[in-house]
Amino acid sequence: MYREPVRVRPLRPSDVDAVCERVSTRVAAAAQRFPLLEGALDRGALRAAVASVAPAWVARSRGRVVGHLTAALLDGTRRRAWVPPDGASFDDPAVLAALLEAAAPAWRDAGARGFSVWAYDEPDEVGAWEACGACLRARRGVRALSSDDPGSVPGLGLRRAGAGDLQVALVLDRWGDPPGAPALEDDERRREVGALLEDPEVDYLIAELDGRAVAQAVVMALPARRGSRANAVHLSAVAVDPTRRGRGLGAALVEAALERARSAGYAVAEVNWRTVDPRVERFWRARGFAPTHALVEGPLAN
Ligand SMILES: CC(C)(COP(=O)(O)OP(=O)(O)OC[C@H]1O[C@@H](n2cnc3c(N)ncnc32)[C@H](O)[C@@H]1OP(=O)(O)O)[C@@H](O)C(=O)NCCC(=O)NCCS
Repeated sequence: MYREPVRVRPLRPSDVDAVCERVSTRVAAAAQRFPLLEGALDRGALRAAVASVAPAWVARSRGRVVGHLTAALLDGTRRRAWVPPDGASFDDPAVLAALLEAAAPAWRDAGARGFSVWAYDEPDEVGAWEACGACLRARRGVRALSSDDPGSVPGLGLRRAGAGDLQVALVLDRWGDPPGAPALEDDERRREVGALLEDPEVDYLIAELDGRAVAQAVVMALPARRGSRANAVHLSAVAVDPTRRGRGLGAALVEAALERARSAGYAVAEVNWRTVDPRVERFWRARGFAPTHALVEGPLAN
């Protein structure tokens, strides 16, 4: 138990400076532990963001702010409260539990049925969320891009797909669905894949072997995000034909996609992967991605 009495209440304008200080310290300290993360941040933008978040909660003890919590309520098939890495801080797991107890009714009233948190991938932090009923679902890993000779598979070619590739891209995208988890509805997938194919900022890559599409990857610049490097690229939707897995196609595709990103001037790559399959975890670690963040998810029970 936390040694001191803790009081949780909605964030007030007078708390903004203290919360900004906590977020700045947290982001800078994380960059010490994870050298490929960005530790510097724009104080003015942070202040504006903290002042405008609603709802947000602060935990206070003996006149000091000892924790804060805020989430974005994103629409989707399952409405959830999303907490970014700098959306929570707590001096002790009991402070987090108190913050969550205060936030949960408001999130529920706004229609959320669960919460999803991008925390730093460290036992203390993940453990505090697990103690509040959350489970580890995914990881984010980062690696530097270097000009090492990428691995290759004879006959494997890579091409940038466009709007005319919708039908084949829908098949490839389904290969990435995690077994046993609810898949995207057909029309939702069609909308999402179609939008990616048409976006000039997105590199939708299809790998072909002897004229057949056998794998895909989607590569895009990361939108500006506190804690991420400005020159980072995001890799997603990597999927290999289920009948051809374990033969080096995934490794060759990822290396070729990262080499394209490196030649385009990116220095760092980020990827999110689901943790349910230990082979997927092994695949990304073997590609040089070191975990920085953990996605933990929990229910918002009545
Ligand atoms: C993960 C994935 C892209 C790997 O592609 P792949 O062509 O099978 O991988 P490679 O042959 O290049 O590398 C083999 C390594 O990948 C890992 N792996 C992951 N899933 C695998 C599978 N179904 N079969 C074999 N190896 C797999 C293993 O660690 C293996 O290493 P090992 O031989 O030491 O066990 C592919 O299995 C896949 O499409 N999975 C479903 C979608 C997914 O999870 N995508 C990643 C999230 S973005």
